[in-house]
Order: sequence, then structure tokens, then C-alpha cells
Amino acid sequence: MSRMTLTQYLIEQQRDLNQITGNLRLLLEVVARAVKAISVNVGKGAIAGVLGEAGTDNVQGEAQKRLDVVANEILLLSNEWGGHLAAMASEEMPLPYAIPNRYPRGEYLLLFDPLDGSSNIDVNISVGTIFSVLHCPEGIEPNEKAFLQAGTQQLVAGYALYGPQTILVLTLGNGVVSFTLDREFGTWVLTNPAMRIPEETREYAINASNSRFWDPAIRRYIDEVIAGREGPRGRDFNMRWVGSMVGDVHRLLTRGGIFMYPRDKRDPSKPGRLRLLYEANPMSFIIEQAGGASSTGHGRILEVEPTELHQRIPVILGSSREVERVVRYYTEAA
Ligand code: AHG
Ligand code: MN
Ligand code: MN
Repeated sequence: MSRMTLTQYLIEQQRDLNQITGNLRLLLEVVARAVKAISVNVGKGAIAGVLGEAGTDNVQGEAQKRLDVVANEILLLSNEWGGHLAAMASEEMPLPYAIPNRYPRGEYLLLFDPLDGSSNIDVNISVGTIFSVLHCPEGIEPNEKAFLQAGTQQLVAGYALYGPQTILVLTLGNGVVSFTLDREFGTWVLTNPAMRIPEETREYAINASNSRFWDPAIRRYIDEVIAGREGPRGRDFNMRWVGSMVGDVHRLLTRGGIFMYPRDKRDPSKPGRLRLLYEANPMSFIIEQAGGASSTGHGRILEVEPTELHQRIPVILGSSREVERVVRYYTEAA
């Protein structure tokens, strides 16, 4: 059986469906190539000397792993010369990276979390890359301000999951598709042409070690699912927490569930753990395109107007009925 490759899929989306421009297609081809290079490094691990600490901190005060830095470099170097971008912004860089003058400048902005799940790198658990594409407003310098666009403005979002298989999940705004990397041929093979989040779910994902800091609405939801068959939900639930958002979101897309990194009282200066522009927005776009929902607890994440490049935000996403229930608990608690 011959299957469609990423290249064929993108050409079809451009030529037959008018869903993307030629430059956007080029951008996605380049990102997919960079992701392949990251996948090779992740796969080599100690052999390539990419495990362990980098010895530096990022702008958010988090210790960088070697692979955070390597993945960031790969994405920058692959994307800077093609002429399709105006600038890039990354979780690992304090400021946007302007395309050097020696290269042509394009009309798109690329944002990424180069390596998601950093705490899992050294223990050989799945990690990933998350990315998002925005249009650079015309006549606007591609500085920090240009990136401060609501998630509804995203043209494309995607993630790569470096697990037992390397998988690329993509939305161009017309559904969600996924590709599996054929390591022998180096091609991306379309393995799911229409990812949909199942409505019914019995699984939830949250880091329960933070429970003493949670809002009452989250506490209520979790108490009820833990009470299982004897509780108000009348059925048993199961819990999973990968520690890599890409892994957790991929599970939601495959068999449903809810993922939460809600607001908590741990550090009042941080309204959440996850970053709006590199994690929450791209994942929310994908989840909604797969028929799920995504909220801060008070409103749709995709409608939040960003005020800062590295802004953090509470995240509640997954099967829409469950997300709606948490949102209702927030309203009732108010
Ligand atoms: P990153 O490795 O890019 O900093 O992101 C880690 C994120 C996310 O992937 C995951 O869901 C969450 O942080 C895990 O946080 P805890 O370690 O608090 O569980
Ligand atoms: Mn991350
Ligand atoms: Mn990261």
C-alpha cells in the first residue's frame, strides 16, 4: 500500500485546497526537517553527548538541558535562510531572533518550545517539540510586539513527539493530521488523516503534588473523579501524567481525556506553569481542531490577548464535556 507523505499532503493543501501558500509549505517542510534532526539527536542520547545540563539558565530562570539548547539551535539554523520568515521566538531565548540581514525576509513568524518535557530527557522518556506560525503584520518590525497575537490568529500549529515512534501532528486550521517518521527512508508518512478526540473519557492528567495550591474548582473536579463509582460521577477514572505535555496531549488525541496545569497559589507571580505562546496556544489550536476544548478555567485560551512573550497561563484542555464541566465549576465557585 502506498501512503501519502508530508510533502504530498502539503502540496495538495496548497495546490488543490488553497489552504496554505507556497511559502508556508516551505516553512513546514523546513520545520519537519529540523524536527527530524532533533529526533536523531534525541535518539542518540549519550552517544551524541546531548544528555545532561547545559550549565545555563533560560530567561524564565529554568536550568537548560543540553538538548534544550541543541534543539533550539537546530530550529534556528534550519529556518533562518529560507526566506519564509520574518523572525522566530523561542522559550529558550529572551528576545525574538530576527532573520539576519544576509538572508531574505519573509512574512511569517515562527514560535517554538524546542524541547518539551526537559525533565524527561535524561531518563529516556518521551519528549517533543511544539511550534506555532503567525503572520507578521505588514509594515511592522518583527520585534516582541509582533508576536503578541491571540491564538485565534495562528495559521498553523504542530508538535513532534519523540517516543518509540517519532510522530508529527499538524493543524493548518482544517482538522488535525499526523505523520509517522519512517526512519529507514527519512520520510514522514501520513498515518492518521483525521484525528478526533473521543467525547467519552475516563482519564485525567494533572500533577497532584500541587493539590494543596489548587483553586476550589479544580479540587472539586479531582475529588469527584477520584471518588469514582461511589462518587457523583458514578464511574471510575484513571490517572496519567507523562511530565511532557506533548505526551499527554498525544494521549488525549488518541483516546480522550482531560489535561490540566491549572492556576495555583504556589508562586503568585506565575499565573500558571505553561507558556501561552509556545505551549498553550499551539496545543489549544490542535485540540479544538480535533473537536476538543481548551480553557483557562474562565475563558477560551485561544482568545487571550498576550501581553508578554514569555507569559504563562493556566491550561485545561481535552474532551469538551470534561473541560466544560471544569469551567462550570469555576463559575459556580465564583
Ligand atoms: P518544558 O520542558 O518545555 O519546560 O515543559 C515542561 C512542561 C510540560 O511539558 C509538562 O506538562 C509540565 O511542564 C510538567 O511540569 P511538572 O514538572 O510541574 O509536572
Ligand atoms: Mn514545554
Ligand atoms: Mn521546553
